Amino acid sequence: MTGLDVKALPAELAQGQLLVLGGGYTGQHLAASVRRLGGSVRVSRRQPEPSSDDLTFDSRSGLLPPPAALAGTTHLLVTIPPDPEGHDPVLQSLGEQLQQLPLRWVGYLSSTGVYGDRQGGWVTETSAVGPPLQRRSAARLACEQAWQASGLPLQIFRLPGIYGPGRNPLLSLRRGEARLIHKAGQVFGRIHRDDIVGALLHCLALPPNQRPPLLNLVDQQPAPSSELLGFAAHLLQCPLPPCQNFEAIAPQLSPMALSFWQENRRVSNQLLTEGLGYRLLYPSYREGLRACLSVEEQLPGWGNQG
Ligand SMILES: NC(=O)c1ccc[n+]([C@@H]2O[C@H](COP(=O)([O-])OP(=O)(O)OC[C@H]3O[C@@H](n4cnc5c(N)ncnc54)[C@H](OP(=O)(O)O)[C@@H]3O)[C@@H](O)[C@H]2O)c1
Repeated sequence: MTGLDVKALPAELAQGQLLVLGGGYTGQHLAASVRRLGGSVRVSRRQPEPSSDDLTFDSRSGLLPPPAALAGTTHLLVTIPPDPEGHDPVLQSLGEQLQQLPLRWVGYLSSTGVYGDRQGGWVTETSAVGPPLQRRSAARLACEQAWQASGLPLQIFRLPGIYGPGRNPLLSLRRGEARLIHKAGQVFGRIHRDDIVGALLHCLALPPNQRPPLLNLVDQQPAPSSELLGFAAHLLQCPLPPCQNFEAIAPQLSPMALSFWQENRRVSNQLLTEGLGYRLLYPSYREGLRACLSVEEQLPGWGNQG
C-alpha cells in the first residue's frame, strides 16, 4: 500500500464540515491543509485574531462558540489538552452539544506519555498504560477514557514530541538557547506536524470500520535529543553548545522538562505504517529537520538571526 495522496481530500471530508477545537500549532496546520485541498473548516482559539473568522472557545473563562456555529459539524478534531484540574475542556464545556451534532468522526490528540516509563523498551497500542504515570499523563489518560465513554465515533491519536517549522532545534540553536544534554541510554520519540496531518487524512480516507480506535503517530527513529541537536548544527554549519551531563544539570531543569527526562520509551509505529499503509513523509529527524530548514530559510529575517 502507498501513503496518502495529500493532493486529494478524503471523499468523506470533502462532503463534510470539519471543526478543529484548538487552532494551535497542529490544529492550524490541519485546518490550512484541508482548506488548501478545498475542504470546509472552522477553528477555535481562545483569543482569535479580530481579522479572522475563527470561533472563540475558552473553557476557563466560559467563552463558548454559539451553537449555530457548530451546527452541521460532521468531523471534529480536538487538540486541546487537559485543563489544570485534569479535566477535558471540550467535554466539560461542549459535551452535551457534541451529542446533538451529526458527527461521523472525532479525532482526539493525546500523548504517548500515557505509556509511562519503559526504561527504553518498546510499546505498541496494545501495551498496558502506566502506572506509575506522571500527573499530567494520568490526567491525559482520564481524558482519553472520558472521550471513550462519550459514545462518539472516536479515534485517539497518541503523540510524542511534535516538531516542524517554527518548533525545532534549528531555531533554538540559532537563538543561542539550545542545550546539549547527555543522559546515557535516553531516547525520545517525535513526529513532524506534516505527518500528523498526513496520518489523520490517511485515516479519514479509510472506511470507518478500518480506522483503529487507538493509533500511535510517531516516526521511525527514537533518538537522543543530543543526536538531533548535532544534526541541526551540521545543517546550520554552526558550533554546538558544550555537552552537559543530565545528572549535573537536573536540579536546574523545570519540573516539566525534568518529567520528560524521567521517562524513556520507544513507541512503535507499526500499526500506522504496516497495518494502515501510511508512508511517513519524514521517517526520521534527518528528513524532518532538512524540510524545516528549507521552509525556515525562506522566511524574512532568516539571514539576520544567529
Ligand atoms: N507539543 C508536543 O510536543 C505534544 C506532544 C504530545 C502531545 N501533545 C498534545 O497534542 C495536542 C496538540 O499539540 P499542539 O502542540 O498543537 O498544541 P498547542 O499548539 O498548544 O494548541 C493547543 C490548542 O488548545 C487551545 N486551548 C488550550 N487550552 C484551552 C482551553 N482551556 N479552552 C479552549 N481552548 C484551549 C489553544 O488555544 P489558543 O490557540 O488560543 O492558544 C490552542 O489552540 C495537545 O493536546 C498537546 O498537549 C503535544
